[in-house]
Amino acid sequence: MDAREMKIRAAAAALSYVEDGMRLGIGTGSTADEFVRLLAERVANGMSVVGVPTSERTARLCVELDVPLMSLDELPELDLTIDGADEVDGQLRLIKGGGGALLREKIVASASSRMIVIADETKVVETLGAFKLPIEVNPFGMVATRIAIEKLAAKLGLSGAIEPRRSGDGIFTTDGGHYILDASFGRIPDAEALASALNAIPGVVEHGLFINMASIAIIAGPAGARTLKA
Ligand code: A5P
Repeated sequence: MDAREMKIRAAAAALSYVEDGMRLGIGTGSTADEFVRLLAERVANGMSVVGVPTSERTARLCVELDVPLMSLDELPELDLTIDGADEVDGQLRLIKGGGGALLREKIVASASSRMIVIADETKVVETLGAFKLPIEVNPFGMVATRIAIEKLAAKLGLSGAIEPRRSGDGIFTTDGGHYILDASFGRIPDAEALASALNAIPGVVEHGLFINMASIAIIAGPAGARTLKA
């Protein structure tokens, strides 16, 4: 079974949580894309849902496949968000933002009664941090913000390069017009402490640590999909 088939398996299992009439937050990434494709089939067969996309990319796919959308301002309270992740640990703490959509993903998930993560087995880790932690920053003073992050990381015993994400010849820019610093900490033993410390730096817009947000993770592997609960 290849990686795409596992993503489809996780997305298909998540679909069983979607009920007629739901207001859905719709995530970003290749796994979330599979969910959108399956959801679109349900919509074509008469299911009535409205989605709030977490990125321009997801919005485009939904429009292409006729999944009805509204903005978060039109639909500020959501029943369920379904999204992928870059890493998931046993307590359903996540690293997200590999696709650069972490800010909208976090806002949409926070506006939802429930968040379900869909992922393949490769995303499950014992300790977060092997995946570079995306930190979304204001373009103004990016270097000063990076230095502030390095100092706080050192205080927490973390080290590793913190580098601006690039896109082609330039710097990657998020849907919100911000930059992303990818932090190669390797291992983040105290994700809660790092999350709070990052939130206290003025130039940090948001970071990819999602803590106490997901209530269920559907993890697909070659033998089937299993469910982890918070
Ligand atoms: C997007 O910004 C991310 O948070 C994605 O949810 C994450 O990168 C997972 O993407 P894949 O499903 O493509 O691995």
